[in-house]
Amino acid sequence: MIYLDHAATSYPKPPQVLAAMNDFLERAGGNPGRSGHRLSIAAGRIVYDTRESLAELFGISDPLRILFMQNATYALNTVLQGLLHPGDRVVTGGMEHNAVMRPLRELEKRGVQVDVIPAESDGSIHASACADVLRAGARLAAINHASNVTGTIAPILEIAKLTHAAGAFLLVDAAQTAGVLPIHMTDMGIDLLAFTGHKGLQGPPGTGGLVLADSFDPSQLDPLVRGGTGSRSEFEIQPDDLPDRYESGTPNGVGIAGLGAGLNWLKEYGMDVLRAHEIELTTRLREGLGNIKGLHLYGVNDPNLSTAVISFTLDGKRVSEIGYRLDDEYEIFCRVGLHCAPAAHRSIGTFPEGTVRFAPGPLTTLTEIDATIRALERIAAS
Ligand SMILES: Cc1ncc(COP(=O)(O)O)c(C=O)c1O
Repeated sequence: MIYLDHAATSYPKPPQVLAAMNDFLERAGGNPGRSGHRLSIAAGRIVYDTRESLAELFGISDPLRILFMQNATYALNTVLQGLLHPGDRVVTGGMEHNAVMRPLRELEKRGVQVDVIPAESDGSIHASACADVLRAGARLAAINHASNVTGTIAPILEIAKLTHAAGAFLLVDAAQTAGVLPIHMTDMGIDLLAFTGHKGLQGPPGTGGLVLADSFDPSQLDPLVRGGTGSRSEFEIQPDDLPDRYESGTPNGVGIAGLGAGLNWLKEYGMDVLRAHEIELTTRLREGLGNIKGLHLYGVNDPNLSTAVISFTLDGKRVSEIGYRLDDEYEIFCRVGLHCAPAAHRSIGTFPEGTVRFAPGPLTTLTEIDATIRALERIAAS
């Protein structure tokens, strides 16, 4: 079996992740932040440790600004629905996932002006293209750090400078980059970061969240959900304290324990080592696929400007057929179609059929990449 679907979710998870989740349920199964007994305290400790690891990873100083949510979608919705009001203007890019586009299209119906900056056919976004809309009074720029269709990395630093010069906030969708590329929110000027735990961070599904920059004032952002927090139980109104303002209901303690172990694994392994490995894999894969007659590669050619995500089409073959044959004949698992990002496919010219997407991961080997190229050669020839 060759697993090339890490952009959907990473698999297999490091054994430490499974062990930490098992351990949490066996030995720390209390409700964190609720009761005062030792199981609750042990669970709270694990959750807090994971907050600390994430704060360090994302370059903020206050771990309480790590807000756990069930995934990146939830975090993106929290910002878009909690920050934008009728009459506000928001700028976004032509490579966004539906986790951004769908809430924005809904907000548009309610009177928010949505400006989509077109992307190039290789998935690149030019920061300068956002400048006019930002200057015209946008409240927010919502930008994908790297596309889940082509892997193309957006120029976040430049966009952040323009965004702040215009007095707007910058929301970055780091679903594809958390745990893959260095993200230092303070240095990069990111106000709000949505991350998911089950992809590059090696955690289980059901983990992720929103990170507020140290400088971001939470009174600007309404919570999406209100309810029990274990704190200030005497009040029937939502507390303003962080992270409770945004974390209602029992948290996914077992998932957060797994995520913490994923983060430790990542730190021990070294994100730079993993990135170098993924660049080697994608370089080989692009080269090999590029030599197949009738195969069209999308995205940028320079692997330094892309994550390990490769999209392609093959003349005369439906993407669904390619995906099926890879699975059925070669046990190669990938994703085909629109990858929840129709806007991105419109930008690169592959709408509505979509692409075949290969996304190798940390433990993918060069031998597996070579086997994948050979499989594609055979599929192309038959
Ligand atoms: C770019 C991008 N944004 C957002 C998401 C949503 O992530 P999740 O499904 O974990 O909420 C994904 C997931 O594939 C993604 O690739």
